[in-house]
Amino acid sequence: MKKTKAIFLSATITALLFACSKRQAEELKPTNPSGPIAVTTANVTYSNFAGALFQTKCNSCHGPNGAIKSVWLFNGIASIKSDTRVANSVLVTKTMPKGGSLTTSERELLQAWFDKGMPE
Ligand code: HEC
Repeated sequence: MKKTKAIFLSATITALLFACSKRQAEELKPTNPSGPIAVTTANVTYSNFAGALFQTKCNSCHGPNGAIKSVWLFNGIASIKSDTRVANSVLVTKTMPKGGSLTTSERELLQAWFDKGMPE
């Protein structure tokens, strides 16, 4: 009886551990099943790069709860596509992100994303 219980318990724990590690692996799994693919100027999209960048670098001021939303409201890809000032402020005049900065590689990827016509 005791032994059966122990076996059952260890089987349950093993199953739980397996389920957890499997779920984590799924969450981290990129769209390419053969392994993580790096974001490059060739494959950059809104969902693999640009969206997160605007979210982290602009949303605090320009998001729906931001203090500067009246100047430009960031609320998704459409709000970027519909306003040419966005690319201009980040890549040409480089006045944005105000108080922050972008790395050279972030700028290159963003430039490529705009050049490609802002793919989703
Ligand atoms: C710390 C707050 C803050 C952050 C972060 C920020 N902005 Fe701004 N943004 C402003 C302010 C304030 C203005 C009003 C003009 C000014 O003061 O330069 C502005 C103006 C703008 C404008 C209007 C046109 C222009 O060029 O002035 C655009 C477009 C813009 N921001 C885009 C962005 C983008 C894209 C990002 C992220 C890469 C960003 N901003 C990050 C505060 C911010």
